[in-house]
Amino acid sequence: MEAIAASLGDTGVCIVPNFLSVELIKSVRLDLKAIKKSGQFTSAGTGQGQGHQVRHLIRSDQVYWLEEILANLIQQQLWDQINALKQALNRGLYLGLRDFEGHYASYPKGGFYKKHIDSFQHDQKRMVSVIIYLNRNWQSKDGGQLRMYAADQHTDIAPLAGTLVCFLSHELVHEVLQSHKTRLSFSGWFKN
Ligand code: OGA
Ligand code: MN
Repeated sequence: MEAIAASLGDTGVCIVPNFLSVELIKSVRLDLKAIKKSGQFTSAGTGQGQGHQVRHLIRSDQVYWLEEILANLIQQQLWDQINALKQALNRGLYLGLRDFEGHYASYPKGGFYKKHIDSFQHDQKRMVSVIIYLNRNWQSKDGGQLRMYAADQHTDIAPLAGTLVCFLSHELVHEVLQSHKTRLSFSGWFKN
């Protein structure tokens, strides 16, 4: 956790393969799939408050928002990781992070999320973005990479099960390239 804080402080980004155990990833993936099957996912929007809209030209994922007070035993293990990460980020970087808002996300075959940053124009509360991927046996032909832009270059990250990505929400321009299979993740934002 301390190394994640250090990397985020130095470069604004941190990528950690195998952040979660194979067993926990499997349980989380099953939890997500059960919730999805029960029809509780909804189309994701962009913007906030009155600016909130479901915009299928910008993003095509479906999400299920998680709340710690409602967490089942599997979700609580995710929250435990998030809370430990928050503590390390606050100790290492003095970010004053308080809340975390997070959701499961499912991109359908053909899904994408166009180039964007995660903090809203009129609300800069999102400080650190966090994503944990849940996709087993993902191949490069399956697409769905997270493309992160830096000046005139970019880096692509495969959404492989267990990989954690975090970055400063105000700074990093990124997008999700078209996915050729269903693409599952847990993602969210530390806020202050
Ligand atoms: C987001 C986002 C990236 C990803 O939800 O804001 O950029 O790789 N997700 O899922
Ligand atoms: Mn984003």
